Amino acid sequence: MKHTLVVTLFLVAGCLILFTASPASAADGKAIFLNKCGSCHKGGGEAAAFAPTKYASTQWERFFARNKHKRKKDISGDFSEADLIAVKNYLVNHAADSDQPEAVGLR
Ligand code: HEC
Repeated sequence: MKHTLVVTLFLVAGCLILFTASPASAADGKAIFLNKCGSCHKGGGEAAAFAPTKYASTQWERFFARNKHKRKKDISGDFSEADLIAVKNYLVNHAADSDQPEAVGLR
């Protein structure tokens, strides 16, 4: 009986460690944008290069809220929810009408 309890506690602790481990650096939207969106969106790539100033902030909000990328290509399997939120925040914060427009972007 006591033995079963100890084993159960170990299993529970193991599960807690697995599920609370944070997803790999969710916050760095710029790096994810440059590396992961940029893997397709670059000069000579399968999709056109662009910068955050391609759209105004409300247009980026809508692009992600309505998953508009899916019309062009389904990329949901390549990005976690956290990745997409981080990229969206980066694009919105540096959109054409933002305080810090970022026109360089992907090349
Ligand atoms: C697997 C390749 C791939 C990845 C990764 C990818 N895209 Fe695309 N994307 C495409 C293709 C293909 C198109 C359609 C051709 C084009 O617009 O150049 C497209 C189109 C777009 C468009 C234009 C859509 C429109 O309605 O005009 C935007 C904006 C865009 N992608 C943003 C992103 C963002 C942001 C990311 C990262 C979260 C991303 N893409 C990741 C392949 C990709």
